[in-house]
Amino acid sequence: MIDIRWDSKFEVGHPRIDPEHRVFVDLIRTVSLEAEKNCTREKALRLLLEVRKYAEFHFISEENIMLDIGYPDYEEHRDEHAWLLRRLEHETHLYYTGDAPLEHLAHFMFDWFARHTTVDDKKLVDCIAAHNALANV
Ligand SMILES: [Fe+2]
Repeated sequence: MIDIRWDSKFEVGHPRIDPEHRVFVDLIRTVSLEAEKNCTREKALRLLLEVRKYAEFHFISEENIMLDIGYPDYEEHRDEHAWLLRRLEHETHLYYTGDAPLEHLAHFMFDWFARHTTVDDKKLVDCIAAHNALANV
């Protein structure tokens, strides 16, 4: 099993985005720990609902920041978020029907998070910094 926890490499340097990412990692870690404990289906599905709702909230927050600064890669980034939500729904269905273990969900979400944060979100935060620097000239 992989160790799902916060790492400094996920830090993008934004006062709003970083704390939200920490909560997201914490939720994924909880899914993994509950999977290890063989939690009830009800508990797992409630937890996956919490993950989905938190992801939706966080994605909308990030997208609103993008709109505020006129982010040129807004649509591409928004599509990445939408893809994760669709995949999460699909994976949750597979868990529900007994076709995939809960641990699998935790791993796929963590893999996606690690890649998305260090590449796409980092790019966004660099653009926010450039935008703020221009605004302060
Ligand atoms: Fe993002």
